[in-house]
Amino acid sequence: MPKSRPVRHVRRQERRLPLNPPVRAWALAEWSLLPLRIFLGATFLFAGLQKLSNPNFFNANSPNSIHAQLVGAARVSPIHALLGHMVGLATPIGIAIAAGEIAIGLGALLGLRTRIAAVGGMVLSFSLFLAVSFHSSPYYTGADIVFFFAWMPLIVAGSASRFSVDAWIANFAASQGGVPTAELVAIPFSKVQTVCGHYAKGKCTARAGLACDAAVCPFLLGDHPVSVTPVAIQAVHRRSVVLGGIAAATTAAGAALLGSAVAVGGRLIGGATAPNASTRQLSPSGTTTTTLGSPSSAPTTPPAKYSGTVLGAASQVPVGTPATFTIPSSGDPGIVIQEKAGEFVGYDTVCPHMGCTVGYAASANLLVCPCHGSQFLVSTGAVISGPAPHGLTKLDVVAEPDGSIYLK
Ligand code: FES
Repeated sequence: MPKSRPVRHVRRQERRLPLNPPVRAWALAEWSLLPLRIFLGATFLFAGLQKLSNPNFFNANSPNSIHAQLVGAARVSPIHALLGHMVGLATPIGIAIAAGEIAIGLGALLGLRTRIAAVGGMVLSFSLFLAVSFHSSPYYTGADIVFFFAWMPLIVAGSASRFSVDAWIANFAASQGGVPTAELVAIPFSKVQTVCGHYAKGKCTARAGLACDAAVCPFLLGDHPVSVTPVAIQAVHRRSVVLGGIAAATTAAGAALLGSAVAVGGRLIGGATAPNASTRQLSPSGTTTTTLGSPSSAPTTPPAKYSGTVLGAASQVPVGTPATFTIPSSGDPGIVIQEKAGEFVGYDTVCPHMGCTVGYAASANLLVCPCHGSQFLVSTGAVISGPAPHGLTKLDVVAEPDGSIYLK
């Protein structure tokens, strides 16, 4: 067979199929996972450190706390029964989530035990999907479902051998054991066919019509075939496990130090006070009609009647210090704020996005949802920043001359 014919044949194929993957696509696939690994690793690491550095995350009085998020999730999540039991364990759960995110992030970034990190990332993302973003609509607006699927390629391919501690350990252990590393070289199959031949009507075109035989193909045979004993492979495997364990333990110790430093730094820089730590709790009287002077703290005023439920004394809600209460008719959390002297507004603080409890952020004078960051105007309850589809439900809250705040 003339040597030029297969080459022309290959060129014709390439011209016919211009959208074919490049010859080195298989090798390039190793690099293609690197951006995904960096993004997922950096995101999870940042999320874990951010939680540890934020004192409000562990402050049950803060709308940004894990406690508030669990309470909100327990209201609307499909696993609400389970979450309801977890509210009392909010702080240890928050620490476990933060530590898990840091471990997963470092594993992905370093390419250390990458598949285990990816499984952890998937489990955590699926848990958050069920707890927090299950009702996102359309479904693709919830980030957790995207993270869940983004971890899948790393479960399949691991770190893909590029900038990876796993790959370094495997190569080091193999070289120490005298076992050749499994470095792969991409060769176009058409090249292999040119040199080694290929079937044509049951005969090998490179062997003058004889039966095909892989043993005579240099690509398959290799110049220096190496025989590796099972004992040598087991030794390499043991060495990899030990080195991997040492690397994981060293990384865990470094992560613990880093997490502690970030937690202490967050408290020193940000302070330990929640934005609404001064929010007060009111206890509605439960009556529908209240005679003047019934709240012990209310001033004495001329006899009269005011309809509604007494939330408490107006003096309990100074300007800029909101108070919370439970709405008797629905059991939802409510908030009352004195925006200007004598002007009270009240809202049902169930977020219209997915049911988390909205809280007051004094620094911005806004009502803010801790779950996905929706922001609402204090004066009207209107949403100024999503994803909440509309504003908060306004309550008819009135401060009457008897000194009490009434929920009509
Ligand atoms: S629950 Fe998503 S923004 Fe409030």
